[in-house]
Amino acid sequence: MSETSLTPTVPSGQVGAAVRGRFPVFRDKVYVNSCSQGALSDAVRAAYAEYLDGWDENGAEWEHWVERSEAARAAFAGLLGAAPDDVAIQTSVSAAVSGLVSSLQFRGERNRIVISGNEFPTIGQIAHAQELRGAEVVHVQPDPEAYAAAIDERTALVCSTFVSYRTGAVHEVEAIYGLAREHGALMLVDGYQGIGALPLEAAKAGDVVVGGTVKYLLASAGLAFMALRPGLVEELVPVQTGWFADENVFDMQIERYRPHRSARRFDAGTPPVPNIYAGVAGVGLIREVGVEAIQEHVRGLVARLAAGLDELGAKVATPPLGPLVCVRSTDSPALVAALAADDIVTSERDSNLRVSLHLYNTEDDIDAVLAALARNRRLIL
Ligand SMILES: Cc1ncc(COP(=O)(O)O)c(C=O)c1O
Repeated sequence: MSETSLTPTVPSGQVGAAVRGRFPVFRDKVYVNSCSQGALSDAVRAAYAEYLDGWDENGAEWEHWVERSEAARAAFAGLLGAAPDDVAIQTSVSAAVSGLVSSLQFRGERNRIVISGNEFPTIGQIAHAQELRGAEVVHVQPDPEAYAAAIDERTALVCSTFVSYRTGAVHEVEAIYGLAREHGALMLVDGYQGIGALPLEAAKAGDVVVGGTVKYLLASAGLAFMALRPGLVEELVPVQTGWFADENVFDMQIERYRPHRSARRFDAGTPPVPNIYAGVAGVGLIREVGVEAIQEHVRGLVARLAAGLDELGAKVATPPLGPLVCVRSTDSPALVAALAADDIVTSERDSNLRVSLHLYNTEDDIDAVLAALARNRRLIL
């Protein structure tokens, strides 16, 4: 089956009620939890079915799997304005960042990794693991001034999230990248919490941009990507590797380490084939609708939510500029449970209720969340 037959066409800009019917979860739930997991669409379900059908009909569709992997690479590249040769297919952000740091040296004067308090745990933990290889980790407040004070000629790597998973803050990654460049440091952007709902041009954001398909790219766990600045790949030789990183995977040679000339040198083992089917469908849906159209739609919903929260006297963790709005709570697990009892799906981190909005959400969803919060006033700060 071709890719186009898998993914029913959505006219560009169709968001909210126009697209919602393709996400069955909305039959029973107000789903505002894309920061944890994007909702399942008909297209992604069909992609999994296609994978299983091919397995039944043909057994190992090896060449088709490799082709699907390349389709995923091209889809991620298109989303980020990168060339497919600069994009590595990964199974998680953790795997991508571990591969990346395996290609860096943390010896001598330039051994520092700068990270902000808004980074996802995997970034902090991988950074600290590099202490075993001579790195020194510098923690900064999540703002450009703090980054500016910390980045200097001793900095090897600067890490910034795009959107904070715990506060919803949108980092000024382009400004931080400028600082990194000024001092000859490499800049890594973790785009997981924004890519798909906010535009991000990889080359403007950082030297390396990572993300995955679980959230705003509407697919499942087990597929991620890493986009490298053009030309950077030639400078990076990962020691975390595998046969899919070889110059020619079909050679099956065991004589030498021959990293591929492109970002494929960061691909490692057998590609996560089922997740790739799903990922191509999820990213396809986002690209058909258009990230700008999604951003515009989400902006309107966020403004409605922010105004309602204000009226309720609720506090937000940070001014909401992206798809994730974090509401301060006196007992965030109890608030998530109270909303769940009303069929509203949310999540929580750090005493914040997380409400995250995407292409399929509507004003009715916002009003339902606000009404439920009004009924649970005692649980908001
Ligand atoms: C900002 C961010 N980075 C990374 C991840 C996940 O990383 P991994 O793909 O290694 O599980 C998440 C998942 O919640 C996230 O929110």
